[in-house]
Amino acid sequence: IKKIGVLTSGGDSPGMNAAIRAVVRTCAFHNIECTGIYRGYQGMIEGDFKEMGPRSVNNIINKGGTILKSARSKEFMTAEGRKKAHDNLIKHSIDAFVVIGGNGSFTGGLIFNKEFGFPVIGIPGTIDNDIYGTSHTLGYDTALNTVVEVIDKIRDTASSHNRLFFVEVMGRDAGHIALNAGIGAGAEEILIPEEDMGLDRLLDSLRKSKASGKSSSIVVIAEGDKIGKNAFELKDYVEENMPEYDVRVSILGHMQRGGSPSCFDRVLASRLGVKAVETLLEGKSNYMVGLIKDEIALTPLEQAVKGKSQIDQELIRVSDIVSI
Ligand code: F6P
Repeated sequence: IKKIGVLTSGGDSPGMNAAIRAVVRTCAFHNIECTGIYRGYQGMIEGDFKEMGPRSVNNIINKGGTILKSARSKEFMTAEGRKKAHDNLIKHSIDAFVVIGGNGSFTGGLIFNKEFGFPVIGIPGTIDNDIYGTSHTLGYDTALNTVVEVIDKIRDTASSHNRLFFVEVMGRDAGHIALNAGIGAGAEEILIPEEDMGLDRLLDSLRKSKASGKSSSIVVIAEGDKIGKNAFELKDYVEENMPEYDVRVSILGHMQRGGSPSCFDRVLASRLGVKAVETLLEGKSNYMVGLIKDEIALTPLEQAVKGKSQIDQELIRVSDIVSI
């Protein structure tokens, strides 16, 4: 392998730049070339490439988003699109690529590898933490810190006005952000897709909360929660059934995806970037590099795509105990 391409794909997440920096510099360290592929797979199809040396990634370790930009490419889902992408890689003498992204990005890489035998390594980058084969995805830790910081602020108003707040957080179909940030921010209840709490239990818990002397409450709801009502519908429902509550809703949205990466995400990005390049140089392909029990470990990309990241059940119990 003489030249490796690197791209970011799908939703951006804090730490992607630190990972790009690590990939580029590991290539330089091993005296091979590195090409930045802009706008994910769409840029691969359109030949939006730029050579990257170690100085091209100065001062980006602390930046959120991705300097390579990102996209979700529909064209890459077609055989024709992938053929164009492959032609471009060959034209630029790129021998392998590292894709930083989530499940959809890995699926794209896997199909591409099956069609052309092209070496691919994945680095998990998404705030959702919904990828099998790693305890942490890039950006997850930063997003948790952002959410906790914001809920701390919301708590000031909740407690000053004796209000109940429903705070909706991201996570797509997973409840990792909600569960962990909820515990970290001291939420009274946490609603996640992995556990169907039911409306009756929610009301019961809010009643108990009030009876125990709490004057305000924070309920964190994951955007993918399956309780059947969104945060605004929940507000109406609770107000109808418990008129004593003054309820407000806060949807945190994309602010959770931005900002300077935490130290944890920067270190993780650096470790994963080095491992991704060195795995390719060892002649391996079709792996995701991840963090398992604090060690950098390889998981076959196919397994990473098919497997399901699990919620830590013990955390649900902890949350129930510490929120009484
Ligand atoms: O996967 C990251 C994520 O931010 C999810 O948490 C959220 O559901 C989704 O992306 C939002 O996507 P978009 O930015 O395309 O609206």
